[in-house]
Amino acid sequence: MASGTSRDVLGRGLWVLGRAIREQPRIFAVAVSGSVLFGLLVIASAYVVGAVVGDVVVPAVERGEVAGGALALAATALFGISVLRVVGIFGRRLGAGYMQYRLQAAYRRRVTRRYLDLPLAWHHRNSTGTLLSNANSDVEAAWYPIAPLPFAVGTLVMLVGAVASLFFTDWALALVGLAVFPALFALNVVYSRRMAPRQARAQRLRAEVSGIAHESFDGALVVKTMGREAQETARFAARAGDLRDALISVGRLRGVFDPMLETLPSLGTLAVLVVGAVRLRQGAISVTELVSVAFLFTVLAFPVRAIGWVLAELPRSVAGWDRVRRVLDATGEMPYGTTTLDPATREPATLAFDDVHFAYEPAEAHLPGAQVLGAVTFTVPAGKTVALVGPTGAGKSTIASLAVRLVDPGAGRVTLDGVDVRDLTAASLAGNVALVAQVPFVFDDTVRANIALDREGVGDDEVWAALRLAEADGFVAALPDGLDTMVGERGTSLSGGQRQRLTLARALAGRPRLLVLDDATSAVDPRVEAAILAGLRAPADGGAPASILVVAYRRATIALADEVIYVEQGRVVARGTHTELLTTVPGYADLVTAYEQAEQEREQNRTYDEVTPLPSGLEIEVDR
Ligand SMILES: Nc1ncnc2c1ncn2[C@@H]1O[C@H](COP(=O)(O)OP(=O)(O)O)[C@@H](O)[C@H]1O
Ligand SMILES: [Mg+2]
Repeated sequence: MASGTSRDVLGRGLWVLGRAIREQPRIFAVAVSGSVLFGLLVIASAYVVGAVVGDVVVPAVERGEVAGGALALAATALFGISVLRVVGIFGRRLGAGYMQYRLQAAYRRRVTRRYLDLPLAWHHRNSTGTLLSNANSDVEAAWYPIAPLPFAVGTLVMLVGAVASLFFTDWALALVGLAVFPALFALNVVYSRRMAPRQARAQRLRAEVSGIAHESFDGALVVKTMGREAQETARFAARAGDLRDALISVGRLRGVFDPMLETLPSLGTLAVLVVGAVRLRQGAISVTELVSVAFLFTVLAFPVRAIGWVLAELPRSVAGWDRVRRVLDATGEMPYGTTTLDPATREPATLAFDDVHFAYEPAEAHLPGAQVLGAVTFTVPAGKTVALVGPTGAGKSTIASLAVRLVDPGAGRVTLDGVDVRDLTAASLAGNVALVAQVPFVFDDTVRANIALDREGVGDDEVWAALRLAEADGFVAALPDGLDTMVGERGTSLSGGQRQRLTLARALAGRPRLLVLDDATSAVDPRVEAAILAGLRAPADGGAPASILVVAYRRATIALADEVIYVEQGRVVARGTHTELLTTVPGYADLVTAYEQAEQEREQNRTYDEVTPLPSGLEIEVDR
């Protein structure tokens, strides 16, 4: 964040600019050349105007006749300068625009690429709103000063040229320049230092406001059904109010400094006229020179502002850069191994948890993470189905995440066919295991694209086969365009159960050797759920069944499992067949019965295939 002093910000801001130049040196050179050309021509134009006044206008007034030749020459010179100035402006604008937007695009790509590489633990600590503003407004802010940068660099060259030409003309006028230009520069620096904390604060608040907005849209259903509109609006209004105040304080500072920056060059022009009149009387300078210098001061006023624009944007740029940096430098990547499982084998895999312990990373680094799993050991033998049953918060989803290596254990091992999953390559892992989560995610794309995901060897036949296994072929065939039907963002044109079956089909299309279902069919009718599981255990097409680890609640589903693992508070409390556990483990029987009652109520209300909350205290939690 923009910690430290504003002196820091200036230095670090210049460092960020330097980095931009190092990344796009050629485009920067084009833009600066255009800007320098423009600057030198501004000086030249002042001298041409001086010459026109001194050598054409004044003699004409004195003699009462215009020297046609001199006038034509002056007009040609001014026209030529104007054309070249246009070329300079064009080069500068084009170069600056290219540079700014190219850097923005490059860094957006880098940031989003990094998001995909960072482990789930990192994502748990960062809100979606923050991620959005990192990739969007922070990248934009970081490269914002690039737009006026070439102009400012050209202006610096121009100022040096102007002071040199002043010395060439007259030392007294040069002294006026030496007083005014550094003063302008200093005023710009003071301005940007005052601006630093205000801009940093505004940038931070922008991110917070977008975070809150994102959360309320995301949770629109909860907000509405719980009647939280007023509170949500108030929460948003408070932050939006802070942002408004921060931006007003930015504006107020602008209001003070902009007129000063405007006035200083005019005062310079006035000083030039006063000093120049004296020097003219002394015969030290000519009318031509006086007019040139006075004109120079008026035309310089505007470009000098460019330096102020760059300096004023630096704090915001540094704040944006720091936030972008935080993503690019984030560590905790999950390195993949180099081992691959035999790619030819389609036989089901064996999954084993060996004394696995796990704790989520604490919200703050110095706090200890709460132990979520302790000494979890079990096996899903090849081709078998194991059901994970347990109350909410027992650690079932955590076990599912460990099985597909979304997270790594703190101690112990998770193995696939005897190989530690940490030793597998990313491709081998993705090719062998698939997780279907409780909350289905559907891309805003066609049904086909959602299931095939552009994977090699997944054509229409494979898509239909997967849909059949997921009991989704019926409703997909009935869709207006079949596989080509677009499903809206988050699959809003589909029911909850349909979405769940599409995501299941997506997992099946990859022919995983281990399938992990984390309450993945909760919105599907229980009979259909059981049918799906039965189909997965013995595929009708005679293909090899996958090994299945399934988090389930329904009796019909659990009864299909070869073994049930009952977990409570992160520990395996009991294991055996469903029938065995019913008689030997009281907690297990209670849980299954309670769920069954809820199911019956739900069935009476015909709420299947809709996302409907169950009566409180029961087992469907809406994971986010
Ligand atoms: N991202 C997370 N960060 C911190 N704690 C978490 C996170 N996800 C889950 N937990 C905690 O871990 C425990 C187990 O959660 P989970 O595996 O989701 O249980 P289940 O799926 O059985 O309901 C709970 O106490 C829960 O609060
Ligand atoms: Mg869960």
